[in-house]
Amino acid sequence: MKTKEDINLGHLPQHIAIIMDGNGRWAKEKGKFRIFGHKNGVKAVREVSEGCAELGVKYLTLYAFSTENWNRPKVEINALMALLVKTIKKETSTLMKNGIRLEAIGDKKTLPEDCRNELKEAIELTKENTKMTLILALSYSAKWDIVNATRDIVKRAIDGKIALKDVNENLINNTLTTHKYPHPELMIRTSGEYRISNFLLWEIAYSELYFTNVLWPDYRKEDLHEAILDYQKRERRFGKTSEQFI
Ligand code: IPE
Ligand code: IPE
Ligand code: MG
Repeated sequence: MKTKEDINLGHLPQHIAIIMDGNGRWAKEKGKFRIFGHKNGVKAVREVSEGCAELGVKYLTLYAFSTENWNRPKVEINALMALLVKTIKKETSTLMKNGIRLEAIGDKKTLPEDCRNELKEAIELTKENTKMTLILALSYSAKWDIVNATRDIVKRAIDGKIALKDVNENLINNTLTTHKYPHPELMIRTSGEYRISNFLLWEIAYSELYFTNVLWPDYRKEDLHEAILDYQKRERRFGKTSEQFI
């Protein structure tokens, strides 16, 4: 079996995005409530964050709560938000130890106040860290981001700040909340689901997709290494032919 040592550090994805899925099923398998799965997912978050920072991956985006997740039962939402507050508080030392800067994307104003405050504090505390940026997607969906960006662009056009000819790929890209980060080269989804669930639609236009059956609470550094090794075997052609790369 291939391991961490087989990873070519000269050919790492700069940015990895992960749809952390399967917490509920993991708990169910054990005869527990869904929140037990969410709680046990925190270890996997620590593992991949450390795992990416150790290797030299510069950006890691984790899909933690989607716009659609607001449709879940209230008890689960409340428990998830409480867990988020607790985790951010508890994990800031891990972030500092590993030189990780925390950032967040999503409709932050919809988050409970204690959650927003905790997040703000951790972002402030870690802002000088340079080894890696960990981006939490919270109350996020790609369509939410695209709609907001469109509004912003239309407003600028109405105000006469931009003309129709200025609307191009760059402008759209720079108006999305993800504009500060390179697009992910690798996107991973756990739990055996083969869908994107409204995550980074624009940004993954040319990402390599990797799906695994591992449920999120069981996800460990070795699983991350396996995904990166698989990524390194792929030929990214961007519309060209194989021969053009020889
Ligand atoms: C992912 O696990 C975590 C969140 C979406 C918050 P799920 O809660 O979706 O777990 P499953 O998919 O029901 O197993
Ligand atoms: C996607 O997982 C959102 C997050 C991981 C935060 P879901 O479990 O909510 O996705 P669907 O609804 O099953 O596609
Ligand atoms: Mg799910």
